[in-house]
Amino acid sequence: MPETEGPTRLWGGRFAGGPADALARLSVSVHFDWRLAPYDIAASRAHARVLAGAGLLDADELGRMLAALDDLESACAAGDFRPTIEDEDVHTALERGLLERLGALGGKLRAGRSRNDQVATDLRLYLRDHARGVAAAVVELADALLEQAGRHIDTPAPGLTHVQHAQPVSFGHWLLAHVQPLLRDLERLRDWDERAAISPLGSGALAGSSLPLDPAAVAKELGFKAPVQNSMDGVADRDFVAEFLFITSLVGVHLSRLGEEVVLWTSTEFGWVILDDAFATGSSIMPQKKNADIAELARGKAGRLIGGLVAVLTMLKGLPLTYDRDMQEDKEPVFDAVDTLQLLLPALAGMISTMTVRVDKLAAAAPVGFSLATEVADWLVRKGVPFRDAHEITGGLVALCAARECELEDVTDDDLKTVSEHLDPSVREVLSVRSALAARTTPGSTGPGPVADQLRTASDKLDGWREWAIERVVPR
Ligand code: ARG
Repeated sequence: MPETEGPTRLWGGRFAGGPADALARLSVSVHFDWRLAPYDIAASRAHARVLAGAGLLDADELGRMLAALDDLESACAAGDFRPTIEDEDVHTALERGLLERLGALGGKLRAGRSRNDQVATDLRLYLRDHARGVAAAVVELADALLEQAGRHIDTPAPGLTHVQHAQPVSFGHWLLAHVQPLLRDLERLRDWDERAAISPLGSGALAGSSLPLDPAAVAKELGFKAPVQNSMDGVADRDFVAEFLFITSLVGVHLSRLGEEVVLWTSTEFGWVILDDAFATGSSIMPQKKNADIAELARGKAGRLIGGLVAVLTMLKGLPLTYDRDMQEDKEPVFDAVDTLQLLLPALAGMISTMTVRVDKLAAAAPVGFSLATEVADWLVRKGVPFRDAHEITGGLVALCAARECELEDVTDDDLKTVSEHLDPSVREVLSVRSALAARTTPGSTGPGPVADQLRTASDKLDGWREWAIERVVPR
């Protein structure tokens, strides 16, 4: 297929011979940066038009150039044009493709640009595009959580702090507490996208170009808000990579918390949730086992997401301006972060939407561990007892029950009187999980009213993300 002889190195002129094998093997990035090819081609189209506008390509040359880029794009998509290991990187491989199609004319496109501004542009385009794909997968998981939450607005559960029974909550409220961070993550992705929507093309190697280029036109064609203000910053800035990795790390941390809870919920000790067979795994030796591997992988994969962020920040620390080859190390961590989330999120969504919640077990566990003690203290407060005293009195009642190994509602009228003159049998009206939940009517609390409100608001917010999540960044 290649019409040109040997590798299409972009920098051969001043070198006596080819690179040592060890250098070539270290230097090559095409095996991972090839996924930038469609973005590189889109940027090439914009650059070709600008070269024509500057009088550096005539109308016929521009036409042939654009046709060759279209043809190369289809060939890449169909797998008919592939990079070889001789191609140092995606830019080299695509220039070879262009030379194969156009001969000498293919060599004109490199005027006024450098791999330094190209790679920064390509990576921004790739990430802006894939941020939307990640957002779509986050929406899918949030949808699954919302749907389950809708079924369990009125399902009491034992709310935990320190993994100890604390106060009863609605299980719907609990599930929605996993939706809220995802809504913030979606917001983070869109905030990030606003800052990332700046085009480095035109920065050249670092100093801009002496040719009459039009960075604003290129930026516009590629869906960016504006070109960079400073060409040196344009080729050196990888804030957008680090910030993207922070967001994917935080998503990973959120998913790991959900994963850990599902591991607990599905344990025999809790027994609150049963996973669908399609979303659980077995053991090669113990026939009875049903494991929550998806949830565990959610926990485990947070490690590599955080690792990617740390790798990139560490790589960037202390780098002098402008482009340094260290920066080639920015790509694998973000590609891995995108791949990881695109694998993990649909699996989690499927696991959540198909799980069976054991309402009976949750309801039975809700009042256990004196979780209604705060209701007693609040009851005393409503009677005018200072909370400090109410806390002491209720603590005394709990101590009595703990010694007798009974629950709060099991004590006799005489016991109540013995613990405190302020207690009387009417306190029993607050000693039910239902009344504890019903009493919580303030916004954001766990009563059925506020939880239904929260569900509505969260679902409206989520609807607002759907369109953004399927937007195309690079127009054809
Ligand atoms: N493969 C390189 C990277 O990913 C492209 C830029 C190379 N620029 C250079 N001056 N060697 O960073």
